[in-house]
Amino acid sequence: MHNTPMTMRSSPDENPSPQPTPLADALHRPMHDLRISLLDQCNFRCPYCMPEAEFHSEYEFLKRQQRLTYDEIVRVARAASRLGVSKIRLTGGEPLLDKNVCDLIERIAVLPGVEDLALTTNGALLAPIAEKLALAGLQRVTISLDSLDKEIFRIMSGGRGDLDAVLAGIKAADAAGLGPIKINVVVQKSVNDDGVLDLLEHFRGTGIIVRLIEFMDVGNRNGWRLNQVVPSRELLARIQKRWPMRAIGKNYPGEVARRYEYVDGAGEMGFISSVTAPFCGDCSRARLSADGKLYTCLFANQGTDLRESLRNGADDDELQQILTSIWLQRADRYSELRRPEIAEHHVLQKVEMYRIGG
Ligand code: GTP
Ligand code: 5AD
Ligand code: SF4
Ligand code: SF4
Repeated sequence: MHNTPMTMRSSPDENPSPQPTPLADALHRPMHDLRISLLDQCNFRCPYCMPEAEFHSEYEFLKRQQRLTYDEIVRVARAASRLGVSKIRLTGGEPLLDKNVCDLIERIAVLPGVEDLALTTNGALLAPIAEKLALAGLQRVTISLDSLDKEIFRIMSGGRGDLDAVLAGIKAADAAGLGPIKINVVVQKSVNDDGVLDLLEHFRGTGIIVRLIEFMDVGNRNGWRLNQVVPSRELLARIQKRWPMRAIGKNYPGEVARRYEYVDGAGEMGFISSVTAPFCGDCSRARLSADGKLYTCLFANQGTDLRESLRNGADDDELQQILTSIWLQRADRYSELRRPEIAEHHVLQKVEMYRIGG
């Protein structure tokens, strides 16, 4: 069971003009973002996330009753928003495999305090639903796209992705006003790093923001090795040879991407460099898995089971207290402590990416 947490809001009787105490973890970081994974399934099999050999036709994904219902998700989102979360991102696996996702979006979009509602998708199913997502209240989408080369894209999606469908999804999202659209590119040495300039060229001047992500050691199944990582500074040097770039500031404290703009005015791009430049210092993200576990780090080896509390009748105050208690104890800073050169590092049991959506 959880310890009784500190009360975060003073009652009006004790204080005539109550000021909510901002919730901060053990390293003084607020809870600002909640990332909600809707389901653990995906229509792709990116080798760095869900390698086909492991996630085959016999693999047992969560069953419907194991997943949180929309009512349960909304209750967690509401409790989090009362504790200071203003940014919510829906993820998967692939969240657009959930055919009713617009109903959930409608409910989260109207929660008081939620200022930013986004969704991360591989884009394959996006084109037909983009308009409906926007009408439901989704503000923006981030699309994963690792290469514009058909063959490399096919390999990096585990033989399942159709590049044209993803490009059509990006176009439809743009037309639906789901921006600023961001494109996440996981860069792996000798796999897709040679195509990074093509990706940047394609999206320069469109208002769409490409972000180059260092391949990370998330989970235990993707065979990560340090020598597969292309340090962002190396990529920046390659990019600078083609287009002069200038660093620009953060949009908000805790933003994971380091932003750059093209000096010629063609817009911005960014780097997410968790391996060579960890950003745990102001990490303000909580992650909810589809089966209702709350994780306080992308690399956590365990989460707190909120589903049990929800199904055992916890009311909204109790739920808020549970979240408060988890957050007050939080001291995660995995990327800052990462020691890839030590073999035991890889033995740590970590949650898999497809279960918490990045
Ligand atoms: P914006 O609000 O658009 O800036 O997006 P975001 O910060 O929510 O980023 P997004 O979901 O697009 O994250 C991009 C990728 O960065 C994720 O998919 C992860 O691969 C990585 N990432 C995001 N948050 C963290 C984090 O807290 N730690 C680490 N190590 N990586 C993260
Ligand atoms: N390293 C870096 N990024 C990853 N993603 C998935 N697995 C990894 C990894 N091992 C990215 C996806 C997607 C987001 C959810 O996380 O490409 O953009
Ligand atoms: Fe699916 Fe995204 Fe994982 Fe690829 S990275 S397998 S698209 S969840
Ligand atoms: Fe946050 Fe954990 Fe990523 Fe550090 S490693 S930035 S604590 S999610």
